[in-house]
Amino acid sequence: MARQGRRTIDVTPSARRLTESLRDIGYDFVSALADIVDNSISADASRVDILLEFDGADSRVVIADDGIGMSRRDLTEALRFGTRRDYKPDDLGRFGLGLKTASISQCRRLTVMSRMALVYKRVAGSTLDLRIVAERDRWSLVEPDPELRSRSMEWLADAPGTVVIWDVLDRVLPAKRSDGAWARRRLEQLAVRAREHLGMVFHRYIEGVSLDVPLVITINGEKVLPWNPFAPEEQDSLILSEQQYEVSSDGVGGVVRAKSCVLPARGQFSSHDEFERLGGPRKWNRQQGFYIYRADRMIQSGGWSGIRAADEHTKLARIALDFDTDLDSLFRINVSKMRASLPSEIRSLIERQVNEVCHAADRRYRGTNSLGHSAETLGAEPRSRTSEPGRLGAGLIAAAMEVGEYEALDRIGKTLRRRSPELADQLGW
Ligand SMILES: Nc1ncnc2c1ncn2[C@@H]1O[C@H](COP(=O)(O)OP(=O)(O)O)[C@@H](O)[C@H]1O
Ligand SMILES: [Mg+2]
Repeated sequence: MARQGRRTIDVTPSARRLTESLRDIGYDFVSALADIVDNSISADASRVDILLEFDGADSRVVIADDGIGMSRRDLTEALRFGTRRDYKPDDLGRFGLGLKTASISQCRRLTVMSRMALVYKRVAGSTLDLRIVAERDRWSLVEPDPELRSRSMEWLADAPGTVVIWDVLDRVLPAKRSDGAWARRRLEQLAVRAREHLGMVFHRYIEGVSLDVPLVITINGEKVLPWNPFAPEEQDSLILSEQQYEVSSDGVGGVVRAKSCVLPARGQFSSHDEFERLGGPRKWNRQQGFYIYRADRMIQSGGWSGIRAADEHTKLARIALDFDTDLDSLFRINVSKMRASLPSEIRSLIERQVNEVCHAADRRYRGTNSLGHSAETLGAEPRSRTSEPGRLGAGLIAAAMEVGEYEALDRIGKTLRRRSPELADQLGW
């Protein structure tokens, strides 16, 4: 070892300064909550109850799960910035930071109570209070407040699990305005947004696609419903193609799966309400594009990642992109898991698939918007009227896309239209 024998100096970071700056690494309320729920999923929870309790300056957020829980030692380690541990493949955790950074992005005091033992009601608890960290300028934990401890027993009395409590919510309810109607309304609004966000990012878990047992999440007692951007229940949702892209760089390699989908146009949805609902949190236009999933947990919801611009005509186009945690470095996933960037290797490979799905979405959109004229339609007659030949036409288009021959079929369609317009009509081309 070349460096052996040289003098080293350890420079411990200032706890006061670092915790303050770590509060601003980019979480918002709902993404912070999602990061706490990630931990519950990693701990095999089947149920996560979230409460946003309004009580003026004493308001708090409680996130309780029925996962495997932690021993006292695990809990102390869990509260270390940069938890020391190994990760299983597909573990939703990554940096050993989420619990702390997500929490302090919203509050000044984080309390965690956890029970691991099945039989004994032994509960470990610890608190990270930024006011104490600042006062002592040390990475210190303290005993939890007795009231919070007894509160947590509501969840931990019968079985293992973990309760995370955020209070001194300075970022959620600024001190000057933490009382009164405004603050109460704000918490209510955040509960609504949280329901929407968690239903979206964890939809595969709630639907039970990713776990043996579907995950139940409640917010203020109300179940979070899954929001699946591909509307699998809608008969006219078209899965166009599924491609796999192999990527490797810097010694990491793996496969990214991409599934293109054209959603039904407005008139093809089973109901107007469903059409509105599928618009999603940012509405149709901005929800087109990539849905990037890391180990089944959604990281990006819509947007073309710079490959093209959002356009009203292509708003029915969505692509699910799936990668596993071994590709984390390629996707440059950040701590708050609010962003992943599309690796440049994939960018050029996927462009063709993007153009195809947008082309198909454009045709479907125009088809149903050209007032009864269905020449450019892609299986676009209203649901109740979609005929057998219409389904055949849509099926042929999907198959052509899957083998990368959409443009050829498009030429065939135009020729067919010239030679036998009724046939083309029937096929919905
Ligand atoms: N709800 C929970 N149940 C059990 N263990 C947990 C829970 N939340 C956090 N932990 C433990 O705390 C550790 C640190 O969590 P976190 O700071 O989010 O980092 P990461 O999830 O990246 O490991 C986790 O690795 C896990 O061991
Ligand atoms: Mg985590």
